[in-house]
Amino acid sequence: MSSKRKVLLMGKSGSGKTSMRSIIFANYIARDCSRLGPTIEVEHAHVRFLGNMVLHLWDCGGQESFMENFLMSQKDQIFKNVQVLIYVFDVESREFEKDLRYYQSCLEALLQNSPNAQVFCLIHKMDLIEEDKRDETFKKREADVLRYSELAATPLGERSNAVCQCFKSSIWDETLYKAWSAIVYHLVPNVNTMEDKLAKFGNVLEATEVILFERATFLVIAHAVLSPHKDPHRFEKVSNIIKQFKLSCLKMGSKLDSIQVRNSRFTAFIDTFTQNTYVMIVVPDGKVSAPMITMNVKNARKVFE
Ligand code: GTP
Repeated sequence: MSSKRKVLLMGKSGSGKTSMRSIIFANYIARDCSRLGPTIEVEHAHVRFLGNMVLHLWDCGGQESFMENFLMSQKDQIFKNVQVLIYVFDVESREFEKDLRYYQSCLEALLQNSPNAQVFCLIHKMDLIEEDKRDETFKKREADVLRYSELAATPLGERSNAVCQCFKSSIWDETLYKAWSAIVYHLVPNVNTMEDKLAKFGNVLEATEVILFERATFLVIAHAVLSPHKDPHRFEKVSNIIKQFKLSCLKMGSKLDSIQVRNSRFTAFIDTFTQNTYVMIVVPDGKVSAPMITMNVKNARKVFE
């Protein structure tokens, strides 16, 4: 039996919803996104994700007439049975206050129809902000979003104090993968059990990290870090790079099976793992041989299927 998760993707027209969906789930590259037309009403996408889990994405067109309909005549249909709302803000929007008011209305409709849904807000197109101003701009936008979330009213007219998590994102770098990996992490059942198993597996191999990526999207779904690392963004960088590489392989008519990257300090093995995942194992250089890792990955598959 499949378990379906309804994910609403909302935000004003041109904020970048269809672009991010197309890159993560439909193998688009960033430069192709400028050719996407506006979404009319709602576009549905079913994405099989990790075995029997299906993400039912509702990409809701952001033009005002559609937004008004979603909030009035189609309110029940749109906001019922939602597991996750992802609201996308264009960081450079000239009407940020207005965007916030729309967001608040959507949040109130969600609280009425799916009170247990989780809410994620993406402050998107961060590449348009000068690099040294990004953190400050993000914090300002995040504070606004959190303020409007708290102020949203419950169906009883009380202040909801709704909680939402904000991420900065851009289709032009790995922040897109960081944000979507974090969202998907909340949707995957039993992540903790999976991470315990990964840690045990990593210990057997004397690895420093073991990371599990979803096979089609290359989003990180679980990881075990067995020794500390300086770069907190390394997972999403790997997602981004390997996804691009995988697309290049596809263009050449070949399929990505496994990769080995070696430098003077470590070796990283990326290999197909279960039916829906790739695994990456990082070991200090000289610790283990490639055939040994390959054999262990093969033997571990059945434990993770
Ligand atoms: P509607 O379908 O009308 O609701 O719009 P949308 O939110 O789906 O916007 P869409 O994905 O069609 O993107 C609009 C434009 O923004 C496109 O030209 C994209 O190339 C551009 N865009 C999307 N993401 C980014 C980003 O991270 N940075 C920059 N600079 N441009 C982006």
